[in-house]
Amino acid sequence: MSINSFGHLFRFTTWGESHGPALGAVVDGCPPGLAIDEGMIQPYLDARRPGQSRFTTQRQEPDQVRILSGVFEGRTTGTPISLLIENTDQRSKDYSEVAKAYRPGHADYAYDAKYGFRDYRGGGRSSARETAARVAAGGVARLVIPEVTILAWVSAIGGDAIDMANFDAAQIGQNPFFCPDAQAAARWEGLVDQARKAGSSLGAVVECVATGVPAGWGAPLYAKLDAELAHAMMGINAVKGVEIGDGFAAAANTGEGNADPMRPADDGRNAGPQFLANHAGGIAGGISTGQPVTVRVAFKPTSSILTPMPTITREGEATELFTKGRHDPCVGIRGVPVVEAMMALVLADQKLLHRGQCG
Ligand SMILES: Cc1cc2nc3c(=O)[nH]c(=O)nc-3n(C[C@H](O)[C@H](O)[C@H](O)COP(=O)(O)O)c2cc1C
Repeated sequence: MSINSFGHLFRFTTWGESHGPALGAVVDGCPPGLAIDEGMIQPYLDARRPGQSRFTTQRQEPDQVRILSGVFEGRTTGTPISLLIENTDQRSKDYSEVAKAYRPGHADYAYDAKYGFRDYRGGGRSSARETAARVAAGGVARLVIPEVTILAWVSAIGGDAIDMANFDAAQIGQNPFFCPDAQAAARWEGLVDQARKAGSSLGAVVECVATGVPAGWGAPLYAKLDAELAHAMMGINAVKGVEIGDGFAAAANTGEGNADPMRPADDGRNAGPQFLANHAGGIAGGISTGQPVTVRVAFKPTSSILTPMPTITREGEATELFTKGRHDPCVGIRGVPVVEAMMALVLADQKLLHRGQCG
């Protein structure tokens, strides 16, 4: 059994490994007639691209996307859209140790236990190179939901959180951390540098908000929009926690404190409610309410570190391993464009599903 596809009506499949010649995605179910070219997808890949600061991996990849199918005269034809991204900067020799022993915290042991054979170069299929393919697919998804604006940022690194009072969306593109709080970004320079120089790594929290989602997307119970989003975000490498709206904090709240009270909208009858809070993250009963859809995603610290760690070899002998090669000291930073892409992919799918059932 192999599961490399995601989505129902707007469905994509990714393929490729870290050190293969290329990787990519096939997007199926995209509506026909949408204006598209590579330039509309590339900016999202540029945001995810490695090697842009000392706070991310130094692997240099241009990550230029090519559209191979499903587009004619600048518009989608409704047939599968194939997206190709070449790998150009592989260094397989860095991974000779990983071929023999398992990195604690990484996928090496689990892949061997399952498949009995693995492409160890750069982590093979478990490498976050794969996320470039999702980001490209997400670029197509955004064309399906022009009414939605998606914005993600890093809200904490190594337990050091931003101050929401300092939130400034314009800051997100101004520092190497996708950080909306200039003071936190300044602190994180020292924090991430310290971890990097010590051969260690740090975890991070990424928050994502989608505005413009109309009421009605999603479905009750087994296909709750919450569940679709959690599935999508949990499918990102290194993600270990997902919260919708207030998430776990809701468990410490009261019914009245956690309610999202409603008043008639200012602009008259039948215009839907004006909500006075958004603890639910824009979703109730599994269906969007018209409020911003909010998701919080926890990324674990990078497991490939320069600190020697006890592990075993493929033959089961005790050894110690430190990971050479080029790695992200905090994977959550480059997780930001990936979280945005998964949000777009879920919402494009949900828009088509809603239209399919409700017209
Ligand atoms: C954008 C991004 C970059 C990553 N870079 C690295 C890296 O440089 N080194 C590493 O060991 N893991 C990295 N990871 C995490 C691994 O891909 C991930 O931990 C591994 O596939 C095991 O899966 P799991 O952590 O989901 O269990 C990265 C993850 C993301 C989202």
